[in-house]
Amino acid sequence: MRGEARSDNLCKAFLDKTLTGALESFNICDYFNKEDIMSKVEIGSDRIYYPMPCSLVGANVAGKANYLTVAWFSMVNPEPAYLAVAMNKAHYTNSGIKANGTFSVNIPSSDMAEKTDYCGMVSGRKFDKAAIFETFYGKLETAPMIKEFPFNVECRLVQTVDLPAEELFSGKSSRLTAMKAVSLRVPLT
Ligand SMILES: Cc1cc2nc3c(=O)[nH]c(=O)nc-3n(C[C@H](O)[C@H](O)[C@H](O)COP(=O)(O)O)c2cc1C
Repeated sequence: MRGEARSDNLCKAFLDKTLTGALESFNICDYFNKEDIMSKVEIGSDRIYYPMPCSLVGANVAGKANYLTVAWFSMVNPEPAYLAVAMNKAHYTNSGIKANGTFSVNIPSSDMAEKTDYCGMVSGRKFDKAAIFETFYGKLETAPMIKEFPFNVECRLVQTVDLPAEELFSGKSSRLTAMKAVSLRVPLT
């Protein structure tokens, strides 16, 4: 594969896997030959591009649920369980996380890819993104979660790291809920 066809394939792989690949592995050998993988070129230093699953982070802003798409999220401590999300300072949702000290992380299924994308393309400043989901609240009461998504974690904010462009919110997982059908397939230790 050469040129455009190859980059089309890479784009397709990214689109297929970025939003929906949480439970699958990405095998670059399916898209490139070994020679291409082993030869390196410098592409700058500003970003690392690789397929990542996406979450929707939820927070109440001015008393109303809002969700935004976040690929930069991770477990960062096992015991107690902490999650961290990196969110650009310009985003509408940040003020809600800081005001309430709570947020949620919601993991979509592949059929939710379009809605997940939408929440990353428009701001809650102008659009009521919560209107496209059924929202529920857990014991923290101010961390909105999405009923249609198979995994939801509500978090209490424990630390905010002020980075040059982003705020890194670290939250202690207060409760993890999973769709019943999914929970039966997850090895719980
Ligand atoms: C696939 C995808 C992944 C994204 N990941 C992040 C991310 O990790 N961190 C971030 O700050 N913004 C990320 N964004 C951008 C925000 O989701 C987007 O700017 C959103 O509209 C902000 O919403 P808000 O203004 O309602 O808070 C992502 C967008 C998309 C489409």
